[in-house]
Amino acid sequence: MSESTAHAKESATQTMRTNALDSLCDGVWIAELNGDVLYRSAAAAIMESMYWSRDGHVCTMADAVFESGVLSRLRVNGRESGEYELCGDLNPGEGAQFYTVEMQMQVLTGAVGAEALSFHARDVTREWAKGKVVHDRHIELGQVNARIKATQSQLLQSEKMASIGQLAAGVAHEINNPIGYVHSNLNTLQTYAHDLLSLLAGYENICQKLPSEYQHLLGSIQEIKARADYGYLQNDLPQLIEESREGIERVKKIVMDLRDFSHAGELENEQWAETDLHRGLQSTLNIVWNELKYKAEVREQFGDIPTISCLPSQLNQVFLNLLVNAGHAITERGIITIATRQVDGEICISIADTGQGIAPANLLRIFDPFFTTKPIGKGTGLGLSLSYGIVQKHHGRIEVESTVGVGTTFRVYLPLRQPSMTIHSIETNNNLGA
Ligand SMILES: Nc1ncnc2c1ncn2[C@@H]1O[C@H](COP(=O)(O)OP(=O)(O)O)[C@@H](O)[C@H]1O
Ligand SMILES: [Mg+2]
Repeated sequence: MSESTAHAKESATQTMRTNALDSLCDGVWIAELNGDVLYRSAAAAIMESMYWSRDGHVCTMADAVFESGVLSRLRVNGRESGEYELCGDLNPGEGAQFYTVEMQMQVLTGAVGAEALSFHARDVTREWAKGKVVHDRHIELGQVNARIKATQSQLLQSEKMASIGQLAAGVAHEINNPIGYVHSNLNTLQTYAHDLLSLLAGYENICQKLPSEYQHLLGSIQEIKARADYGYLQNDLPQLIEESREGIERVKKIVMDLRDFSHAGELENEQWAETDLHRGLQSTLNIVWNELKYKAEVREQFGDIPTISCLPSQLNQVFLNLLVNAGHAITERGIITIATRQVDGEICISIADTGQGIAPANLLRIFDPFFTTKPIGKGTGLGLSLSYGIVQKHHGRIEVESTVGVGTTFRVYLPLRQPSMTIHSIETNNNLGA
């Protein structure tokens, strides 16, 4: 092959190589060791004409890639890589297109060692975007999962409360009947005893007035009176009946509270009803009284509030959770203040305690299902998350304010009027379906 033919062939090969490199979407640069560009492919030229940025600074490609720091590292290590963001606009507005470019740099060695540098830029925007979609989806799924878990635990808790409600309602119903007739019989007994004692007093009066020649006839009666301790019996009988009556009144009240509280076990298909919240607070307080009485003085500061449309026994659960938590927070003795008032278009029910308070780090987590600082058996960590859900269903909100060592105030805000009854029925139906 003649020299000129060989040269022509070499030149054709060179052109083919250049064309091949120009047909790539990736950018290719060959540069001298000092960064002077010897060759750039078509895509490389386009990339180079754009604005580059690294770590938030906008610059030219030369500033970003051929700067002395990168080059000297490259010369020492033989390889380098980096990721850059590219944009066609110097001041990109909304909707501007950004590209992410991954750059592989390499020292090219020849017969006498390092001879040149090669730079290979690949647009990874699409891959990166795909990765971002997957990443976003992952986060979304995590959130959905957390929501499902929260709903599940709420359902669990509602289920538990519903069973307790049904149980309470059942027991209350069973007790109510016998209590009814014991109560009524005691009333009659009280009247009978009173009549009998009056009758005996009448006889006694007559006996005292009997002439002395007839007094010996009363001997056996005196004996019976002494045996029965008539003087004492006379005073004690009405007292006994009165005490029993009071006892039965109290039992009746507890049964009524239980029924009120459980709303006759209609928790799961409870209807929205116009309700006096003070009644709910009072009956709930009676239910938890046993747990609170040794620890706290309970102060009631009930304001003037109208009745509101709500799911009464569900709100009672909220009050119950808040009151029990307040009781738990008090270690020795403290005060629990239950206050109600109307503010603008809302009713505010606050339950404040002088307990141990909540650490700021925990404040953000107390409404999370299963978050509890209580020992096993005392806390499930579901009370507040359940309460949160119930209040949300009422289009209200719960706020908390707490200082460690001073106390905590929970405020439940409920709208005076629910947005619309259609929404209620839809939500109630959803609950039924759930
Ligand atoms: N009144 C309060 N004072 C102090 N901490 C409280 C109070 N109410 C709630 N907390 C904190 O919030 C956590 C979660 O409460 P809750 O959801 O009712 O679950 P539980 O009572 O079963 O722990 C409690 O463990 C407690 O740390
Ligand atoms: Mg609790």
